[in-house]
Amino acid sequence: MRDFEPDEESISPTYYEPLDSPKDFEPELPNQLLDYVLRNVTSETIDPNLFVVMAKRRSTRKFSDKPVETVKIDKIIAAADTAPTAGNYQGFEIFYVKSPEKKKLLVDACNKQPYVDSPVVLVFCKNPSRVKLDFPEYILKKFAIQDATLAAGYSQLAAQALGLSSIWIGMFDEQKVMDVIGTDLIPSSVLCIGYPKQTKFPKPRRNLKDLVHVVW
Ligand SMILES: Cc1cc2nc3c(=O)[nH]c(=O)nc-3n(C[C@H](O)[C@H](O)[C@H](O)COP(=O)(O)O)c2cc1C
Repeated sequence: MRDFEPDEESISPTYYEPLDSPKDFEPELPNQLLDYVLRNVTSETIDPNLFVVMAKRRSTRKFSDKPVETVKIDKIIAAADTAPTAGNYQGFEIFYVKSPEKKKLLVDACNKQPYVDSPVVLVFCKNPSRVKLDFPEYILKKFAIQDATLAAGYSQLAAQALGLSSIWIGMFDEQKVMDVIGTDLIPSSVLCIGYPKQTKFPKPRRNLKDLVHVVW
């Protein structure tokens, strides 16, 4: 990913374009860039075992100053785009906050949680207007929150697989976050990512009988 001013033809947003893309890239071919970014083998840490990734993931609130490699940010964003969405309408959008000043404003918008000022900050927003299904608005809103949440979960696991750690922020003032990132879309979560200062042991979870209810 590099900073750039895209031309009219670009499929990338201003100031964000994947580090690497196929030489014979066809913008009209669905998923070509996504597949390329995800499959692109790098020398970076990648844990291919999904279950190990899930078992090892822990919320991190202390990040090291080590910057996150651009190729990893590409993969984290691409991973979000692989998540299932209602009707495949992809009722969510990601705001990649790069401005140090805006990250600081987000700390305030997120109940003054200082670790929001982290190396990589992604705000996942709901966009029910993308969901072109013939259902009442409240259903479309419900789909959009599920789309945005699932996508953020995929990004969180991708970050872990890449040797990074993250904290999911759900405690924020929606309007303040929207003002900072400049959108009318309502945020569903703020995902803060970086290299952890320390690794942690898994957190205890409840007994299986409290988790699973068997229905005959
Ligand atoms: C919906 C949701 C909202 C959360 N909001 C916050 C938050 O605002 N601040 C925070 O520090 N952690 C937040 N967390 C992280 C949880 O505290 C954390 O996932 C939980 O304690 C379990 O720990 P683990 O992620 O290390 O397994 C949130 C997690 C979820 C799923």
